[in-house]
Amino acid sequence: NWTTGNILEEQVERIRQQVGDARVICGLSGGVDSAVAAALVQRAVGDQLTCVFVDHGLLREGEAEQVERDFVAATGVKLYVANEQERFLSALAGVSDPETKRKIIGREFIRAFEEAELAIIAEAAAHGEKIKFLVQGTLYPDVVESGGGEGAANIKSHHNVGGLPEDLQFELVEPLRALFKDEVRAVGAQLGLPQEIVGRQPFPGPGLGIRIVGEVTKERLDLLRKADAIARAELTAAGLDNEVWQMPVVLLADVRSVGVMGDGRTYGHPIVLRPVSSEDAMTADWSRLPYDLLARISSRITNEVDGVNRVVLDVTSKPPGTIEWE
Ligand code: XMP
Repeated sequence: NWTTGNILEEQVERIRQQVGDARVICGLSGGVDSAVAAALVQRAVGDQLTCVFVDHGLLREGEAEQVERDFVAATGVKLYVANEQERFLSALAGVSDPETKRKIIGREFIRAFEEAELAIIAEAAAHGEKIKFLVQGTLYPDVVESGGGEGAANIKSHHNVGGLPEDLQFELVEPLRALFKDEVRAVGAQLGLPQEIVGRQPFPGPGLGIRIVGEVTKERLDLLRKADAIARAELTAAGLDNEVWQMPVVLLADVRSVGVMGDGRTYGHPIVLRPVSSEDAMTADWSRLPYDLLARISSRITNEVDGVNRVVLDVTSKPPGTIEWE
């Protein structure tokens, strides 16, 4: 009789046994898995946990606040925020190649996270304490995919640089290791996390950085955030959140086309809507969203977002298209 209630109780008990009275650190991405993993550990060991949120400035409208305000309010977790928007913007300046953008974002993320870890380690040391554990939101399908059964290597040898100080080696706490995504959402709801967090659709780690085709700049991020917020709000208002797996909204920053607005000619950028249906993101089909919904999204975006004069719909399945554009 595997109900959400006893999943929760059992995991809380396991975490307490594993962690004892040691201190724990957990990175929050804004996504469901890390949020639920952190909330479980918080429920188990309270203030022994410190969460880290690296705000890279590539999240969608409202998402940083969901972590910094709503998640903290719902869990009472101790949160360390690293405001790194400038760092990512300057690292990405002048770069348009998708793989290069991904590498830069990944590299800067690891560096920023390690700096945050060192700050927390120093804070703990000042109280004569050590950080011993790192929480990861690994799910059962990830475990199967990587071929690691129970008892697989349990120490995270911290990435990139060889010979990192012992300070940056942690034992892993993986409270979601036995769970599927829908169970994770159910546990999250039971822990009192807001629906905006537990119901969140998949969103790539590199965020909006790979939804701007072209160079990433502050202005373009702001523009894309507005367009994306409109598209999401209209999808939700139409009651169709559950009909799509995810709906990337993409800015073609390197493309401009001619349009007309009032008495004047415009020369703006297109926004691409990429709603897809999928079971697991390995394959996908484009979602047949109602025309009146598409019309509303298009008219609102072109009216409300300066610099955008066209909205287009991606009607490509995966394969041959991927879900993201970069
Ligand atoms: P593609 O574009 O390859 O995406 O069809 C498949 C799924 O993966 C997500 N995605 C990512 N998720 N880090 C992530 O955590 C990434 O770098 C990344 N790239 C793509 C994408 O949103 C889709 O759900």
